[in-house]
Amino acid sequence: MIETARTILAEAVNPVSFSGAGLSAESGIATFREPQTGLWAKYDPMKLASPEGFAADPELVIAWYNERRRRAAAAQPNPAHRALAARHDMVHIVQNVDDLLERAGARDVVHLHGSLTRDRCSRCTHRESVDLADPPGLHRCPECHGLMRPDVVWFGESLPRADWTRAETAARAADVFIVIGTSATVYPAAGLIDIARASGASVVVVNVEPGGAPGTQLTGPAAEIVPQLLR
Ligand code: OAD
Repeated sequence: MIETARTILAEAVNPVSFSGAGLSAESGIATFREPQTGLWAKYDPMKLASPEGFAADPELVIAWYNERRRRAAAAQPNPAHRALAARHDMVHIVQNVDDLLERAGARDVVHLHGSLTRDRCSRCTHRESVDLADPPGLHRCPECHGLMRPDVVWFGESLPRADWTRAETAARAADVFIVIGTSATVYPAAGLIDIARASGASVVVVNVEPGGAPGTQLTGPAAEIVPQLLR
C-alpha cells in the first residue's frame, strides 16, 4: 500500500497535504479528541475556545492559550513536518495553530484555524505578532481599546475567508490529497477531503487509527509513515 501511495505522490503535479493535531502529536503537542489525553477530554471548549467563554473570563482564556503557546515554543518539528516541508511543490492546509511546519521550512502553509503566533483585537481588525516563548498577558488594543485575543478560530466562528478560498482552490486542483492526523470531524475544514476527491484527487490517509476519513489507509504514526511516503 505504501509503495503505491509513494509512487502516486512521486508523480503528483499538484500535491496537497491536509493535517490535524496528529501531525504534531509526536512533537509533544496534545490532540483534541483522544480519550484521556485530548484537550477537549480535559477542558471545556466552550469556556476556553468560544467568544462567550472569552467574554465570561478573558484572563482564564489568555492564561490557557499562553500555556499552549509556551508548549508550542518548546516543541520541535518532527520527521513528518520535515518530510512535508522538503516537498516544495506541496500546499499544506493545516488545522493546527502551531508553527511547526513553518519552522521545518514549509513555504506554502494555509492556516484554516488561525495561528498562536498572532493576537487580534476582539473589536477591530488590529493584529499583533506574538513571541510564543514569551506571550503577553491580557491586554488592550492600541487602536480601539478592545481586548486582544489569540488570532485563532473559536467555536461558533467562521474560518478566515482568504485562507478558506486558498484551501478550497488547492483542494480542487489537487491530484493527490494526503490527510494526516485528523479526526476529520470539524467542518467546513473536513469537507475539503470530499472537495478534493470529487475533483479527481487520490486521497491517502495517514492516521494511527484506521477509518477516520475514506481513502487509501496508511495506519501508523505520522512521524514514521510520512517520511517513508515522501522519501
Ligand atoms: P483531533 O484530536 O480531533 O484528531 C486527532 C487525530 O490524530 C485522530 O484521528 C488521531 O487518531 C490522530 N493521531 C493521533 N496521534 C497521531 C500520530 N502520531 N500520527 C498520526 N495520527 C495521529 O484533532 P483535529 O482533527 O486536528 O479546531 O481536530 C480538528 C479541530 O478540532 C482542531 O483544529 C480544533 C479542534 O476543535 C479549532 O480549534 C477550531
